[in-house]
Amino acid sequence: MRTMIASSAQLANGIARLGWFYGLSRVIARHTSNLGHTNSYKPSRPVPTQRELFADLGALLAEDAANVGAGIYPAMPEAGDTPQQFLARVRAMLADLPDALSRRAAEDASSARAAPAANDPDIPDYFRQDFHFQTGGYLSDESARLYDVQVETLFIGMAGPMRRACLRPIADAVRGRDQRTLALLDVACGTGRFLRQVRLAYPAMKLTGLDLSAPYLAEAERQLTGLRSATWLKANGEKIPLPDQSQDIVTSVFLFHELPPDARRNVAAEFARVLKPGGTLIFMDSLQMGDKPGWDGLLESFPVRFHEPYFRHYAIDDFNAMFSSVGLAAVETRSVFLSKLIVRKKL
Ligand SMILES: C[S@@+](CC[C@H](N)C(=O)[O-])C[C@H]1O[C@@H](n2cnc3c(N)ncnc32)[C@H](O)[C@@H]1O
Repeated sequence: MRTMIASSAQLANGIARLGWFYGLSRVIARHTSNLGHTNSYKPSRPVPTQRELFADLGALLAEDAANVGAGIYPAMPEAGDTPQQFLARVRAMLADLPDALSRRAAEDASSARAAPAANDPDIPDYFRQDFHFQTGGYLSDESARLYDVQVETLFIGMAGPMRRACLRPIADAVRGRDQRTLALLDVACGTGRFLRQVRLAYPAMKLTGLDLSAPYLAEAERQLTGLRSATWLKANGEKIPLPDQSQDIVTSVFLFHELPPDARRNVAAEFARVLKPGGTLIFMDSLQMGDKPGWDGLLESFPVRFHEPYFRHYAIDDFNAMFSSVGLAAVETRSVFLSKLIVRKKL
């Protein structure tokens, strides 16, 4: 009975978020057109109908609720914010919109270079740009404050449920073992939304969050307020400052589409290096071309609407070869709404 209530609460929460973020995305579309910005790009590849999108999205919410019902993870609110804090983030996002749209119209993705953190000699040059035309790139406190509402608006509230699909393979890796003895590293943890989900499901696991952005790590730390924290590493995923074979589980969510091809390979090699033999990689990022052929037009439009300089290559990159070449054997690959989930085992 308790699990049924929890599962229904998870579903109700998902539907409410969908309604809220769908409404917000409509407001933004209207505001965008009032500001004189239009999106006239017509992809040559097919796009899903509204009905197909919503059917898939319903399946994701149903799977999320079923996972709660099956005890794979507990019902969880999406973030540690109070409603007031959340609304303040939404207001700040709307206030930032005219600037972000002007930079998009001018194809100017350079505001990150003005941030003092851009002078950090440890960050690679590809990191000093405004992914998605985000003001300040990943290098300002304000960007860290806005990132999650921006992402949830883009994914109409489904970023949280998509990330949670990664908790099921974590449960498979943990089954029969004492979570207190297990170490999980999240590479490119960003603002910590995924690590928060992991922490809610595994209160005693040893968690490490790694990211190149100090403001995003600070926001991640805030997201775990009131819960057992994690170890935070400001570092490049291409050079993880952890010993060989030190991690039982490595996760990485929404990173690879923002990396140049050679950096993707460096990070994949680092995943394999830090995993223990038999350890699990759980990877989530955008769909690639052909994963859902009727949706390829969305992947074609994405780097037209947003500054995503490496996405076109990402969308056709050979992940099977990339992960196999570093000794990460295939376990599972599947689509989760707009994302793909890849699970690999270190040989
Ligand atoms: C699209 S965000 C995804 C963040 C988070 N995983 C999530 O689920 O929202 C990409 C993240 O990758 C980080 N990042 C980009 N390149 C990186 C690199 N080479 N090493 C470590 N972090 C990197 C950025 O700072 C940013 O936080």
